[in-house]
Amino acid sequence: MILGVPKEVKDHETRVGMVPANITALHEAGHKVLVQAGAGAASSLPDSEYIHAGAEIVPSAAEVWKRAEMIVKVKEPQPAEYAFFRPGLILFTYLHLAPLPGLTDELVRARVNAVAYETIREADGSLPLLTPMSEVAGRMAVQVGAQYLEAPNGGRGILIGGIPGVQPANVVILGGGVVGHNAAKMAVGLGARVTVIDRNLNRLRELDDVYASSLVTLASNVWTIREALRHADLVVGAVLIPGASAPKLIRRDMLSSMKKGAVMVDVSIDQGGCFETSRATTHTDPIYFVDGVLHYCVSNMPAAVPHTSTFGLTNATAPYMMELANHGLEAACEKNEAIREGVNTYNGYITYPAVAESQGQTWKELTAVL
Ligand SMILES: NC(=O)c1ccc[n+]([C@@H]2O[C@H](COP(=O)([O-])OP(=O)(O)OC[C@H]3O[C@@H](n4cnc5c(N)ncnc54)[C@H](O)[C@@H]3O)[C@@H](O)[C@H]2O)c1
Repeated sequence: MILGVPKEVKDHETRVGMVPANITALHEAGHKVLVQAGAGAASSLPDSEYIHAGAEIVPSAAEVWKRAEMIVKVKEPQPAEYAFFRPGLILFTYLHLAPLPGLTDELVRARVNAVAYETIREADGSLPLLTPMSEVAGRMAVQVGAQYLEAPNGGRGILIGGIPGVQPANVVILGGGVVGHNAAKMAVGLGARVTVIDRNLNRLRELDDVYASSLVTLASNVWTIREALRHADLVVGAVLIPGASAPKLIRRDMLSSMKKGAVMVDVSIDQGGCFETSRATTHTDPIYFVDGVLHYCVSNMPAAVPHTSTFGLTNATAPYMMELANHGLEAACEKNEAIREGVNTYNGYITYPAVAESQGQTWKELTAVL
């Protein structure tokens, strides 16, 4: 198969769909990979490394899209890329189509076969292509929080781990899933006093088994959250109810009991945020204050560390892209249920019910149209 890796065009997107190791593996399996010149530059991956790995560097996005049978990207196609769509093209990328009826219509109209990273689901219910970005965001949340707790950055001027004889910071993490666990790992490692609040008691048991007395686990309810906030220096919002908007666990009135200069990092902002006072911010303008409490609500945190994020993402996408290349989409879907779950549009139909339902559209069972 001929695979193509265009340079990302979405604002501030610095990741790339393949690293040289992917190219070598695909090349050895008999496939050809076209990479647009400069596609990996922002992830510290020069064209020379792709050439060394066996890729053909092509000068324009138009040529990559035209010659490739499967396009491997990071973010959803932008309007400038819609003209490259054509029947039968396989598109493998993050799509998040539910709130994007315009892009969905274009994919359906052009009969593109679009496989979304975020809906590939393994039999155990896990979402393997979302996990690495949650790992990045969870770890970053504490790093970013520690930085904003410093007085010159607007915070209350507390060193997250304290020093001998002086209290460390209190870090409260709402949600103990992938983001929350990774945030906890960083905060414990830095010497903070860490509390994780989750509604899933089994999740709390798992964290307790791993961290024992290094952190406190609490069952989620309004009273517990209100009490924890009074002492918090850093709050990380990391809850998720799959497919739904994040619950507003921290209400505006709760902020009045918090310390001035405390920092709140709402990682759940991509699902609307779990603080009532959250609104999405960007890497260029990441923070604002409400009632003296600093808010950081960047919705694409992994883009700040493209080198790590690109490798984390492609580690996870590699086996699926190889299976798609080796067998083609139809046979890969027959063999692998996780890939079947990833198909959002096929041959002019929406095949993912949640996307159709959120847009008031009709959909077809993939197996009926394959
Ligand atoms: N901002 C970013 O750049 C970025 C990057 C990656 C992930 N995210 C987002 O971070 C969020 C968390 O992702 P994840 O991978 O950790 O999800 P996850 O499913 O692994 O974990 C979510 C946790 O929230 C808990 N939860 C649900 N309702 C709760 C409640 N009422 N009180 C307490 N806990 C509750 C669940 O029990 C679960 O343990 C998602 O919205 C995800 O999209 C954002």
